Amino acid sequence: MKKFSVWISASLFFILLGCVKHNTAFENKETSIEYRIDSLLALMTIDEKIGQLNQYSVGPNMTGPGNKTGTDSIRYARLLNGQVGSVLNLLGAEETHKLQKLVVENSRLGIPLTFGFDVIHGYRIMYPIPLGESSSWDLDAIERAAAAAARETSAAGVNWTFAPMVDISRDARWGRVMEGAGEDPFLGSRIAEARVKGFQGSNLEYAETIAACAKHFAGYGFVESGKDYNNVYIGKSTLLNTILPPFKAASDAGVATFMNAFNDIDGVPSTANSYLLRDLLKGEWGFKGLVVSDWNSIGEMVNHGTAEDLKEASEQAIKAGTDMDMEGDALINNLKQLVESGAVEEKVIDDAVRRALRVKFELGLFENPYLYCDPDREKQEIGSQKNIEIARDVARKSIVLLKNDGKLLPLNPNKKIGIIGPLAKDKDAPLGNWRAAAVAGSAVSLYEGMSTLSNTTIPYAQGCKLSIGPNTFFQEVVVEQNDRSGFEEAIEVAKNVEVVIMVLGETAYMSGEGRSRSEIGLPGLQLELLKKIFDVNKNVVLVLMNGRPLAIPWEAEHIPAIVETWHLGSEAGNAIADVLTGEYNPSGKLTMTFPRSVGQMPIYYNHKNTGRPPSPGAQVFYTHYIDVDYNPLFPFGYGLSYSSFDYKNLQISNENMSTNDTLIVSIDVENKSETGGEEVVQLYIRDMVASITRPVKELRGFEKVYMEPNEVKTVQFKIAIDDLSFYRANNTYGYEPGKFKVFVGGNSRDVLEDEFMLVED
Ligand code: BGC
Repeated sequence: MKKFSVWISASLFFILLGCVKHNTAFENKETSIEYRIDSLLALMTIDEKIGQLNQYSVGPNMTGPGNKTGTDSIRYARLLNGQVGSVLNLLGAEETHKLQKLVVENSRLGIPLTFGFDVIHGYRIMYPIPLGESSSWDLDAIERAAAAAARETSAAGVNWTFAPMVDISRDARWGRVMEGAGEDPFLGSRIAEARVKGFQGSNLEYAETIAACAKHFAGYGFVESGKDYNNVYIGKSTLLNTILPPFKAASDAGVATFMNAFNDIDGVPSTANSYLLRDLLKGEWGFKGLVVSDWNSIGEMVNHGTAEDLKEASEQAIKAGTDMDMEGDALINNLKQLVESGAVEEKVIDDAVRRALRVKFELGLFENPYLYCDPDREKQEIGSQKNIEIARDVARKSIVLLKNDGKLLPLNPNKKIGIIGPLAKDKDAPLGNWRAAAVAGSAVSLYEGMSTLSNTTIPYAQGCKLSIGPNTFFQEVVVEQNDRSGFEEAIEVAKNVEVVIMVLGETAYMSGEGRSRSEIGLPGLQLELLKKIFDVNKNVVLVLMNGRPLAIPWEAEHIPAIVETWHLGSEAGNAIADVLTGEYNPSGKLTMTFPRSVGQMPIYYNHKNTGRPPSPGAQVFYTHYIDVDYNPLFPFGYGLSYSSFDYKNLQISNENMSTNDTLIVSIDVENKSETGGEEVVQLYIRDMVASITRPVKELRGFEKVYMEPNEVKTVQFKIAIDDLSFYRANNTYGYEPGKFKVFVGGNSRDVLEDEFMLVED
């Protein structure tokens, strides 16, 4: 009898256990995701809930110090107990499958993990760094590159990228400008949408798509003096009108997650900024996704000095709306106590858990936790020919021709060329920083790209080494270079060819996180080398590879042809060769202003007029410098082509616009050359009188158009009330009637202008 009852209880136990693990309401795909979340939440203990908010890094990629408490065995036990909701930095279909299986099969509820990774501009195949890619102004190409990156990433078991970074920045000293789309909120918003669409596709449940993450919310691009992690001082209007629009656009485009930022804003750490997270993002904007902290950013509030310890930091962060703790060991060790003591209400935890679970449901992980762990797909997808072609296409579209005096470019095939410079044969620099799972040294170098098009050996000399490097993501090795022994050989090459291609710039790790620079010219001996070469051969084409705008006044004045190629990715050398030879007619335009000197930082086209606007030639007391021109070296939106474009007949459909009208602005653009080419036609506006000071120009539209030789195209833009609206003096969003100027041109400086009046209905 006893035996029988033991048998009955044991059977009941297993039946019950089975009920928990299987056939529960949350597993029923026929019901709504919200219903399934509620059903699952109802089954969870407080420990399991807090576990879903805990993210650990598994693997070698560390981007900063953590608060790792306890041993790896504690972390392992937490994985088995359902006390880890997500991991980052674990790569590979098999590796992720193994860990997923461990968690799904051992934890009580079998809730799958999400796997995150910084896929910033590609997984194995690298596309241009985002700042470079933004210079293409080609939203389709940008979306295609993100989708290709998602295909590779998702095949390697990773289902969540920490991209796009949508931080607006005006300071090229900040190394992370390479990760963003430049200085303009309008263009930044369009690019944010395109990248979210590319990563996430039309349905996150598809195996080829991954969850995206808009970061860093907010203000990180405005770190004081461009020094990474520094404090941020901005007024409300800058926050609302300049910094937030790309985040709002990402949220409206359905981005699955947000990441907060390391910095404070006027004393409030972004990680505990309830105005940003609760009032705006989760309140006004209706964002239903997950907010992950930045790497240990909850813990870093102790260093900021706004929390005494991790417990206080956890309380502040969760209450303010940070849902998941990346590698901080703060929430997992403190939240339960905070709930038990009544300091944090359980419903706050529930809301955060809901968000973490929602992403998992949307990714289809409850139907198939191994959806993204397919070794066969991994083999086919990683490094596929299709992705390589996409990389070359977007790379050449991202190149910006800065100067081309005497039509030195495209290269005349009958002229003998030589290639000189420390980056000419570099197969690593073009991969850029934040290169995910790229193989070091795997890019096509410029020398290789040019050599495949030539049937003779191209003369080459390195000239000098770069002053910083060799370098890795985790290490900074600064080696001052005084070695000029390679100069002579380089000068010899220059003397014996008709055109010299000089390949100079920054290594991959001179920009990116933790890579702020106080001088932003060509580092080391490069400028000295360039001058020596120029002394013996005036036909120099300067090819720049870099992760930020550079201050290159001497180069811009003397060198006849300058090509900005950024860190262009795996296909860099081929794409650059396409442009230098004229196989592809350059069409990129700068998305960040190039300064004349570092002292001009921050510099940006959409600045305010000031009470004493620059009036060159006037007396002393106006906005300017005494030692450098007020204007930038190359303005926002600037970039040349092998074609030349002429703008005429700017017309506005009406001189008055009522608030529910739409105005049509049209312009004729003529390709006045014998070469077909593309031009980015740009529309700017200026609100002449408003309740707060307004920028002298703001981008409100652009179109990239192809024109045959001598073709004229009429380009039209619509202006609606939203294009004229902004956050006003009382911080509400809306318009103010009055005079507006309209500008159209091929960059933010050289424009035609007209005006109209916005009138009340
Ligand atoms: C960076 C984030 C990144 C995270 C994870 C942090 O240091 O600020 O942008 O996503 O590390 O690698």
